[in-house]
Order: sequence, then C-alpha cells, then structure tokens
Amino acid sequence: MTVGQSKPPVTLLAVDNLVTEFATDEGLVRAVDGVSFSVDAGTTLGIVGESGCGKSVTALSIMRLLPQPMGRIAGGAIRFQNRDLAQLSIPDMEKVRGRQIGMVFQEPMTALNPVHTIGRQLTEGMLLHGVCRPENALREAAELLDRVGIPSPDVRLGEYPHQLSGGMRQRVVIAMALACRPALLIADEPTTALDVTIQAQILELIKDLQAEMGMAVVMITHDLGVIAETCSEVVVMYAGKVAESGSVFDIFDRPAHPYSRGLLHAIPRLDSEPKSRLGVIEGMVPGLHDLPSGCRFENRCPHALEACRAAPPPSEQVAAGHRVSCSRWRDL
Ligand SMILES: Nc1ncnc2c1ncn2[C@@H]1O[C@H](COP(=O)(O)OP(=O)(O)O)[C@@H](O)[C@H]1O
Ligand SMILES: [Mg+2]
Repeated sequence: MTVGQSKPPVTLLAVDNLVTEFATDEGLVRAVDGVSFSVDAGTTLGIVGESGCGKSVTALSIMRLLPQPMGRIAGGAIRFQNRDLAQLSIPDMEKVRGRQIGMVFQEPMTALNPVHTIGRQLTEGMLLHGVCRPENALREAAELLDRVGIPSPDVRLGEYPHQLSGGMRQRVVIAMALACRPALLIADEPTTALDVTIQAQILELIKDLQAEMGMAVVMITHDLGVIAETCSEVVVMYAGKVAESGSVFDIFDRPAHPYSRGLLHAIPRLDSEPKSRLGVIEGMVPGLHDLPSGCRFENRCPHALEACRAAPPPSEQVAAGHRVSCSRWRDL
C-alpha cells in the first residue's frame, strides 16, 4: 500500500506546547520548553539544532522513555492517532512503542542486546505485538534483514551484534524498528556514529522503506545536510524551544531566524574556496540553569537589540506554514 499523492494530509502526530523537566542536584531544569509541531502521515519532519538543544529529550518524551525518576513531562500534549501519549498508562504506552512508533538511536548497540542473537531480537517485538505467527517469525525476520540490505540473512539471524559492522548493526536496528510496520519512525541521529559512505546508504534505506511502507518519519539531526536529503518539513530547535519551523524550502531558501541562518552558513560547501573559512556561530548554547529571560539566542545573535534581552520573542507567522520566534525577523 502506498500513500496516494492526492489524498488530503492527515495529522499523525501533534506535539502541542510540550514541556519536559529534569530534577537535578542544582534544581529543576526545563530541557524542552513549550515545543509544538505536527507530522502528517507518510511525511518526514526534521528536527535540527546544535547539541544540547533538546532534540533527543523531545524524542524520548514522545516515546515516554525519559530517564526515571529525574525526567517528566510537565506540560502539553502529544497527540498520536487520537490519543494523548503524555497521558497514557505504562501498559498502554508499551503497546504503542515498537508497534505504532518505532525508534532508531544514534548508537546501534544501545538498541541491541549483546547476549542475544539477531534473530531473537528481531522476532521478539513481532511476537510481543502479535503481528506474526510464531512459526513464521524467523522467516519474516530473514525477509526483513534482506529488505534492509543485509547479505545472507539466514546466517545473520544466528549471529550476535558484535559479529556485525556498525553499519550492519544500524540496518538491524532499522529492521527491528520497522518489524511491526509502525505508522511513525523516530530516528535520532541515526547516521551520526557511522562513516560517511555508510551514512548515505542508511539515509537512502530509510527513504526507500518510507516510500514502500508509507510511514511518517521524524528525523533528528544536528546536520542540515541530512535534513536537505530527507525532509519535507523542518523544526529548528534552540535551547529547548522552537526557533523556526517551515518547509525545507522555507528553511533553506528564506530562513527568517538568525540561528537558522547561522546553521546554514556553517554547512561546508563543495564549491567553496578550499581556504575559505567555514562559518561558525560564535558562542555556545546557554546552559539550562542560567537561561536568559529574553531571547535565548540573544548573546550569540549578530542582530540582537536591547529589546531582545527583555522578553522572549513571540512566535510569528512569516508565511503559510512558516513560523519564526524572533522579534527582528522583519528587519533582517
Ligand atoms: N537525564 C538528564 N538530566 C538532566 N538534564 C538532562 C538529562 N538529559 C538531557 N538533559 C539536558 O537536556 C538538554 C537537552 O539535551 P538533549 O535533548 O539530549 O540535546 P540534543 O539531543 O539536542 O543534543 C541538555 O542541556 C541536557 O544537558
Ligand atoms: Mg541528541
């Protein structure tokens, strides 16, 4: 089954004003502070931002996998298939996780159990969620391995994670995440730990599987190159908030937020002078313990004015589907 081009978009996931907090020795911190975005069925949304901006915490909140007991969803809603995941009981959430929503992490070994065979790990989820009959499980697992490009799948089923290369492990993790044909795949830096040629293959694989299965993808990355490669919609996060959101064309061709512009300038270009300096955004993402009361990007922003320090910028519409949180965007 494929998603027809002419069907009206159906919102699959709507994150609404999500607030996620951690209890730390120095007090309560808000790693995600009022984040909203939505994902239509069958589409890819990218979440991009530097390290520490709250991308993984957003994903872990959706999956309800926040470290316990420090982490908690303190506000907002996570609507998915007519339910609010933020309110689900643990048993109900376990039925969603791995079944309707699959997840791929940066480091494949975090998702794999070193002491169990690939075959056991692949069939576990399918059997748990009852998506295949026990007598068919290994055959279906072999088909999945074949589909994610693993040679000799029958042999691989009997092997352990350490017998595979990093790229092959990530293919196994993708196969596990997709075993129950989820409606949504959340991929958190799925290629960051892999070398460049393997990165491209894994992104291509996710794109192919998405087209084939019609699932939606939330692609989390610090790399705008990955966003350009895979996404139709983009959320730019900075210090726990959404700085800008829009289509991939909005963000790449007419970025409105100085932070988005800074990220774009920091992409190495193949056609640039070999000696030309790569743009960098000076400074660092503010720590969660001493967040500024105004715009969180103010101390790094080349366009900041006194007013930017006074109060957080409101979210404004730049054009249909394109929003920015910057008081100065009209003047830039
Ligand atoms: N278990 C935790 N306890 C306290 N703070 C945390 C915890 N996990 C993440 N954070 C904080 O939340 C912020 C966002 O982290 P994260 O979502 O992992 O960033 P990203 O994925 O964008 O690199 C960081 O400042 C980080 O220090
Ligand atoms: Mg992360």
